Amino acid sequence: MKLKDKVIIITGAANGIGKEIATIFASEGANIIAFDTEKNINLLKNLSDELKVKYNTKTLTAIGDVAKLVDCNELVQKSLDKFSSIDILVNNAGITKDNLILKMKEVDWDSVISVNLKGVFNCIKAVSKSMLKRKHGRIINIASLVGQIGNPGQVNYAASKGGVIAITKTCAKEFASRNILVNAISPGFIKTNMTNKLTDQQKKDILLQIPLSKFGEVTDIAKAALFLASDDSSYITGQVLSINGGMYL
Ligand SMILES: NC(=O)c1ccc[n+]([C@@H]2O[C@H](COP(=O)([O-])OP(=O)(O)OC[C@H]3O[C@@H](n4cnc5c(N)ncnc54)[C@H](O)[C@@H]3O)[C@@H](O)[C@H]2O)c1
Repeated sequence: MKLKDKVIIITGAANGIGKEIATIFASEGANIIAFDTEKNINLLKNLSDELKVKYNTKTLTAIGDVAKLVDCNELVQKSLDKFSSIDILVNNAGITKDNLILKMKEVDWDSVISVNLKGVFNCIKAVSKSMLKRKHGRIINIASLVGQIGNPGQVNYAASKGGVIAITKTCAKEFASRNILVNAISPGFIKTNMTNKLTDQQKKDILLQIPLSKFGEVTDIAKAALFLASDDSSYITGQVLSINGGMYL
C-alpha cells in the first residue's frame, strides 16, 4: 500500500477528478478528508460511505468554499482535530465561466480567479503551518493545459491555472527546506462534468488536436496524483506533470 495511514485533504472531492483521486488514494490505505461545496453534501456522504465499505477508510467530509480563507482554516482545524496531522493536500476544486474577453462579465472573472487561484492560496496557507512544523508534507495542485497554452473564451480560467503553476513553483522553493514537496498536474481534456458542457462540435474540434485521439479518463489523472503523493516521487518538487494525450509537448 503506497499511502498507508496517510492523511489527505482533497478539495472538490464530490465529483470527477477529485472523487477518483479520493478513491485511488483510499484503495492505497489513505485516510480521506473530502471537501466540497454545500450543494454536494450528499455526494460527499455517498463517497465516504463507499470508501468505508470498500476499503475500510477513515473519512471526514467537510463542506465550504475554497475561495474563503475562513472555510479553509476551518477545514484544516477539523482535519487536525480528527487525525492530528495532515500529510497531503490536493488542490483540485475548480470551476469554469467561459466567454470571450470582450463579453466576459467582471463577476465571472472574479469568481473563477477566487475559486481556482485564491482557493489554492487559501488551502496552502491554511495547511502550511502544521506541515512546516512537522517538516513533512506533499501538496499537489491541479492546474490545466489551458494555463500553459491559453484558450480563446477562457481568459479567466487560463489566468487562474497559469497562476496555479506559478504558486506551485514558488511554494516548492519556499517549503523545500522543510521537506514539503509541491507539484502540479496539468490535465488536458478529461471526461468529467466540466467537459460535458462542451458542444459536440467543440469536442470534435478538440479531438482533432489530440495526438492520442481521445479525451483522458479521471483515472489517468488520479494515478499521476498517486505517484506524486507516494514515496516514489520523493526527489520531485516544483514540477508540472502534463497529462494531455500529446496535445501540448
Ligand atoms: N476535466 C478537465 O478536462 C480538466 C482539465 C484540466 C484541469 N481540470 C481541473 O481539474 C479539477 C477538477 O475538475 P473536474 O473536471 O473533475 O470538474 P468537476 O466539475 O467534475 O469537479 C470539480 C469539483 O470542485 C468543486 N468545487 C467547485 N467550486 C468549489 C469551491 N468554491 N469550493 C469547494 N469545492 C468546489 C465542485 O463542486 C466539484 O465537485 C479542476 O481544478 C479543473 O479545473 C479539469
